[in-house]
Amino acid sequence: MKRELPVVAPPSQAACDAAWKALHRAACAVYWRRADRWPWFWARGKLGRDPLFRGLIERGDLPPGARVLDLGCGQGLVAALLHTAEALARQGRWPQAWPAAPWARSYTGVELMARDAARAQAALQGLAFGSGAAPQVVCADFRAAELPASDLVLLLDVLHYVEPAAQDALLWRVRQVLAASGGPGRLVMRVADATDRRRYAIGQWVDRLVTRARGHARPPVWGRPLAAWTAQLQALGFAVRPVPMSRGTPFANVLLVADLAAPGGAR
Ligand SMILES: C[S@@+](CC[C@H](N)C(=O)[O-])C[C@H]1O[C@@H](n2cnc3c(N)ncnc32)[C@H](O)[C@@H]1O
Repeated sequence: MKRELPVVAPPSQAACDAAWKALHRAACAVYWRRADRWPWFWARGKLGRDPLFRGLIERGDLPPGARVLDLGCGQGLVAALLHTAEALARQGRWPQAWPAAPWARSYTGVELMARDAARAQAALQGLAFGSGAAPQVVCADFRAAELPASDLVLLLDVLHYVEPAAQDALLWRVRQVLAASGGPGRLVMRVADATDRRRYAIGQWVDRLVTRARGHARPPVWGRPLAAWTAQLQALGFAVRPVPMSRGTPFANVLLVADLAAPGGAR
């Protein structure tokens, strides 16, 4: 009788899966609180199911050693991910098949909603990166907040919450901050492509549900076609690399990795 052999993943794939599992578990543990379990559940679901986070790690989208500014940071998932990635790499548990582990020289999150900012602060309290810096989260509106010196700015599922003039003003300020950093700068931004009407509408609908589940009233939103986002960033001098994010999801999401050359020209 012919025996079916089990399907075995190639060693590097298995190592990557195991590393992601460890990274996911440890990043979620940052949020474990007996008194408020929601942040842990949220981290588990969001880091585990949204292809954004593993993709950021596996493509090496977060340059090592950056001063990170996370605008609309929610409960600061990227800070937890960065802290955990650095710890795993130090323990020699970073798979060779992945790009170098990201680590943050500093991290500042800006979050409008007091409850989310408080959850981020509670979870990240007491953590420190290898640089000695502790992740900071401030409760503020990024339209008015002062933006600290940064080499990496994140706008992950955020920009559609503010009106088009404020989107443009913020992108211009982000460009100024990155240009002032002296080296090459990067903006990583996830948007929904309004051209793909059906998937865009599904995203809006889910956004509405999630915003309500997180205890907030649903604000109005302003989307744009992908080509318009890209053109806006290019007009500001960014070289833009779009990364499709909709595969395996019903959404029209695209990640834009936008690089600004250093003043001398190096990128
Ligand atoms: C969909 S969540 C994404 C959270 C986080 N970037 C992530 O990927 O986990 C969007 C976040 O942006 C925040 N936000 C919206 N408008 C903002 C503003 N004007 N200033 C600061 N944060 C804002 C919301 O409160 C919310 O937490």
